Amino acid sequence: MSTLNGKVAIVTGAGRGIGKEICLYLAKEGASIVVNDLGGARDGSGGGRVADEVVQEIKELGSEAVANYDSVSTVEGGNNIFQSAIDAFEGVDILINNAGILRDRTLYNMEESDWDAIMEVHLKGHYNCTRPLVRHIRDTNRMNCRIINMSSVSGLFGNFGQVNYGAAKAGIAGFTRSLALEVAKYKCTVNTISPGAATRLTIDLIEAAGRKYDENDWTQGPEQIAPVVVWLCTEAANEITSQIIHSQGGILGIMQQPAIIKSYTTDDLWTLEQLDQLIPELVESKKYHDEEVAEKGAPKKV
Ligand SMILES: NC(=O)c1ccc[n+]([C@@H]2O[C@H](COP(=O)([O-])OP(=O)(O)OC[C@H]3O[C@@H](n4cnc5c(N)ncnc54)[C@H](O)[C@@H]3O)[C@@H](O)[C@H]2O)c1
Repeated sequence: MSTLNGKVAIVTGAGRGIGKEICLYLAKEGASIVVNDLGGARDGSGGGRVADEVVQEIKELGSEAVANYDSVSTVEGGNNIFQSAIDAFEGVDILINNAGILRDRTLYNMEESDWDAIMEVHLKGHYNCTRPLVRHIRDTNRMNCRIINMSSVSGLFGNFGQVNYGAAKAGIAGFTRSLALEVAKYKCTVNTISPGAATRLTIDLIEAAGRKYDENDWTQGPEQIAPVVVWLCTEAANEITSQIIHSQGGILGIMQQPAIIKSYTTDDLWTLEQLDQLIPELVESKKYHDEEVAEKGAPKKV
């Protein structure tokens, strides 16, 4: 039996790459889908109708789909995307906030337009597309919905030349943690994915790093993200919320969330002399903690 029969999903930025693969997997599991994509270039400029091809492929798999070409970067776009789902399928159960662009530059060279474009598509895009759904959940008392957000190691670890993208992607992880608390009473789960895959956003970066791109290698391709995202949409994942799931290079993992790993307290205001001792000691403890986590986190074969 298909696990998502009767469910309605919106996938943003679904005309290519990771979003497209998620749509095809959702379709195989029986979901009806709004395929959103502005169809622009990698930097977000222009537009096109790439969503149409994905709709066609979904229909060939026997599921229902409609295309939407709005931009996630405006409130109006987010409302239109949501309305496409209501018009076609009368409700929404699953939202995959996936649309993305890149404007890589160091901060020395970054123009305001590069900063704003990234914030509008990634961070504000999550607000624009998610608010209509959470209002729908509240107003119709819709239970067991799923919201899945796309972060990146760029935001979670940091990456040279991506202060705009990294800030937005770290913000998305924070958005997830707070939203998970707000929608818990409707048994709606909210999770973050940290994906890694060869797509038009990354193939040149992979090759520039001296690695060979092989389109037949699933451990490089965007198809590896799809089953992980779709599983989070199934009943089996009812209790999984506020997590950061990592899927990259054929590896499935869970990320650590920010946590205080060691702390001190005192009766009086800290003195600089105390801090001379305590802060280096805390940093040293963190180093051991990181080494331990790195060892525990190394992939184990299943
Ligand atoms: N590929 C990776 O290794 C990787 C790593 C970390 C995070 N991500 C994230 O995963 C998501 C998918 O990336 P991808 O690698 O599949 O890239 P992609 O370029 O193949 O697909 C992204 C899609 O989003 C669409 N899009 C861009 N701006 C839009 C807008 N304003 N409104 C609607 N659609 C818009 C594009 O037209 C494109 O089809 C992005 O959020 C990206 O930041 C990807």
